[in-house]
Formats: sequence, structure tokens, C-alpha cells
Amino acid sequence: PHVAVLYGGWSAEREVSLASGKACAEALEGRGWPVTRIDVGRDIAQRLVEVKPDVVLNVTHGRPGEDGTLAGILEVLRIPYSHSGVMASALCMDKAMAKTVMDAAGIPVPKGLVVSRREAAREHLLPRPYVIKPNTDGSSLGVFIVTKDHEHPPQELHSTEWSLGDTVLVEPFIAGKELTCAVMGDRALGVIEITYAGTFYDYEAKYTPGGSAHVIPAPLKPNIYSEVQRLSLAAHQALGCKGVSRADFRYDDTPGGTGQLVCLEVNTQPGMTGTSLVPDMAAHEGISFAELVEWMVLDASV
Ligand code: DAL
Ligand code: MG
Repeated sequence: PHVAVLYGGWSAEREVSLASGKACAEALEGRGWPVTRIDVGRDIAQRLVEVKPDVVLNVTHGRPGEDGTLAGILEVLRIPYSHSGVMASALCMDKAMAKTVMDAAGIPVPKGLVVSRREAAREHLLPRPYVIKPNTDGSSLGVFIVTKDHEHPPQELHSTEWSLGDTVLVEPFIAGKELTCAVMGDRALGVIEITYAGTFYDYEAKYTPGGSAHVIPAPLKPNIYSEVQRLSLAAHQALGCKGVSRADFRYDDTPGGTGQLVCLEVNTQPGMTGTSLVPDMAAHEGISFAELVEWMVLDASV
């Protein structure tokens, strides 16, 4: 079967997707699949009609590839595609909506506010330290950790240059560990603890080789480790995800801390770059990068 690898697009995560897509296309070719690479543009529906792939591997990040609109085009064209469908993609792209659904399913999420970026820029809406992040973007773009050192909220939120959407989440900063766990079909993979040198797991820490380290299995008490896996699978199912998704967590294990474990979000198109997390989780289970990508293609459906 002929696979179209869809990547690129015009979201703020375009560069990340180009790296993810290149890696996936090469892996499939290495296993003998005929592959067409398609950089997603406004003419994507027409391109798909011309190329007539048997199946699509969606490796876009952000909008429009990860928010369900691209999935909608593929549904209409009746081309089987990887990862989540329209509804789950749309829900997970909107972090506030995803939190509402997870909360209803009994999955702990950070309590916070959903406000306009201008409101968040005007005054401190929560006691410091707290976090401000775009409601609909990934890769930590536009995320601010506001500490006691910041007399005022970040003024970038006021800027006319701001392109990360008008709605932001304001959430308490949770000290402790950054944890993440992927679901592949109906099972959770291993849990990773991410360590990094800076104040948080920002864009640079994510994509600079050596900017962060993946510790797998995460050094956690067995009950916490299995709780992360259980919650990842519960979130995947509650949100209606399909194929591979990855849930991100904070766990406050600091001395005298709250001990809380919360799910920050679920990513329906997790990164597949050289420094990405899901390939390392798969490797830990004995699944090679090429096998992982091939599984995504074979799992594709309309
Ligand atoms: N948004 C990036 C690609 C990730 O979740 O891996
Ligand atoms: Mg994300």
C-alpha cells in the first residue's frame, strides 16, 4: 500500500513536524513502503485527491493537522489515517476542553483559569509561582513560568506580534517532576521522567540535543509509576483517542510538597523527532522506531 506522510503545515510547530515527518518517511521507506511526502498546505484536499494514497500517516503538530480539521478532510475523502479522529483531536488541541473531560472522568488536572491573554498580562491572577500557557499550542511555545522575581506578568502577552491564540490557561506551578507516558492502542508504555537544566521543559530543552534527558523507567515508587500508566490510558479513552497518544504530567514529590500527580494535557500527534519521547518509550518495550511507525500505519482507519 502507498502511504502519504503528511507533515509540515503552518502551525508554530512546523519545524518540529518537518523533523518528525522526515524521520517517519525514511523509516517507512527503509521497510519497503512506497511513500509520498506531502507538506500540508491550503491545497491539501486537492493534493490528496491527486496522490490517491491508500493510507495517510499524519505527522503534523499543532493546527490544522492535530486539531481534527485535517482528520475531517480525510474522513470526507475516505482515506484511512493514523492517530486520533476528529473529536478527540479537537478536544485535545483545546487544553481547557480536554481538562474538563478529564476532570469529569476522575483524572486529576491542575485547577486554573481560562482567560484572554490581555487579562493574564494585566495583573497576577494567581499567587506566584504560576504558569501561563496558550490554550491551543504545543512544544512549550508561549509558556511562561511567573515567579516572585517577576513583578508584573509577561508583557509579551500584550504584543501585537503574539500569534499563539487569544485564550490562555493560568495554572498554579507544580514543583517536582515532569513525567510523560504514551498509550499505543490499548496499552500504556513505560513512564519517562524528563530532566532538564533550565527552569522548565521549554522548546530549547525539548529539541536541542542534550537539552534534556529521558529517564526510563522513571525513578518512581511502583504505585506512582503504575498510577501514571493507568491515568494515561484513562485519559486516552476518556478523550476518545486512537492509535498513539502521549499524556504529560507533573508530580510534586518535593520534601513537604503536596504529593499531587496531575495530567497537564494529552498530545494526539506526539513528536517523532530525534529528541522525542514516544520513540524512547517504544524502544524501552523492544519496539524499534521503524516498527512503531509501521504500527501507526497498520492501525490507520477512517
Ligand atoms: N507537541 C509536540 C510535538 C509533542 O507533544 O511531542
Ligand atoms: Mg502538546
